[in-house]
Amino acid sequence: MFDHLSSLPADPILGLLATYRADENPNKIDLGVGVYKDEAGHTPVLQAVKEAETRLLQSEDTKAYVGPAGTPGFNTAMQELVLGAGHAALVGNRVRSAQTPGGCGALRVLAEFSNRAKEGATIWVSDPTWANHVPLLGNAGLQIKSYPYYDRATSSLQFDAMVETLKQVGEGDLVLFHACCHNPCGADLSRAQWKVLAEMAQKQGFTPFIDMAYQGFGDSLDADAYGLRLMAESVPEMLVAASCSKNFGLYRERVGLAMVIYSDAAAADRGQSQLLNVVRGNYSMPPNHGGAIVESILTDASLRANWEAELTEMRERINSLRSGVVESLQSAGAAGDFSFIQRQKGMFSFLGITPEQVQKLQQDYSIYMVDSSRISIAGLSQGNMAYFCQSVAEVLES
Ligand code: LMR
Repeated sequence: MFDHLSSLPADPILGLLATYRADENPNKIDLGVGVYKDEAGHTPVLQAVKEAETRLLQSEDTKAYVGPAGTPGFNTAMQELVLGAGHAALVGNRVRSAQTPGGCGALRVLAEFSNRAKEGATIWVSDPTWANHVPLLGNAGLQIKSYPYYDRATSSLQFDAMVETLKQVGEGDLVLFHACCHNPCGADLSRAQWKVLAEMAQKQGFTPFIDMAYQGFGDSLDADAYGLRLMAESVPEMLVAASCSKNFGLYRERVGLAMVIYSDAAAADRGQSQLLNVVRGNYSMPPNHGGAIVESILTDASLRANWEAELTEMRERINSLRSGVVESLQSAGAAGDFSFIQRQKGMFSFLGITPEQVQKLQQDYSIYMVDSSRISIAGLSQGNMAYFCQSVAEVLES
């Protein structure tokens, strides 16, 4: 039965990790997968998480099932983190959600949920978008179309072209937006641009589907949610997939939130029964541990303050690496203007070099990045910055 299956190439992002690990060059640099690293190249467990785990270990008294939605405390705390306490949609009792295995789980569950509401519905995604959006959404039955977003020639947003394309999108279509820290390009929408898009969604009737994988990695927890919250005030219905992988550093625990905003409370109750049925038919219910950690952090004032301080530290480190790399590339004499890296937000930017140059950096210098030249900024450090910039300068010259 399985003999005829052909082998597939490695995943464009995760596949890099294995090649990197096997590389024996002591100068190797991993700028591939989006995982925060400290100056020593380590991805630490946050102190707030350690403390929450210690408390959980002491207080946990059952391993009985949690149910398809996960724990109610996690859902309430996350809805408030994402929307802001007192948001009109929360006050109107129009929000329902489920704890999911990571942001990926949320994207997949929401895609299947949308496909139930309208089979084969079209979802518009940015060009470019995160590579895994396509299988996560498409394998659920949605049809994928794209709108222009990032102009590689100018390393900036093409907002006019984006608007022009989205003008043709109407009721029954979904539009996927990145709430902040766009993956892969790092170019985010301004507040004025979010206003334009929110008015378009309201007027044209398409349904916003917002992926918020990096809340707190751009400017702040609240500022990063500005567009999402505005959109949620402007439209009757909306979907949100949130991830706790990056901002809580809980990557391998798989914690996310699938959230739906409905037009009224009765529709919300009906819709939630469908959402939970999608979950039950997929993986039955989410694992508890990561969600319990998040709930404990968000609902305890001192743990929350510690977590916010650690999140700020991660964000500031990335931002200082952004300015550092722009300066160092210039001092290394790298051909071109890389100042856009400093203007962009979050974990990623495109370096803007060719796939051949990406390959050369990997083969000759053991510097790993995705073929598109997306770099995970946190993989840089004071220790490897000079080697990285010198190598890029050499490859650009050759
Ligand atoms: C990334 O884009 O590198 C991260 O979101 C991790 C992943 O699963 O691809």
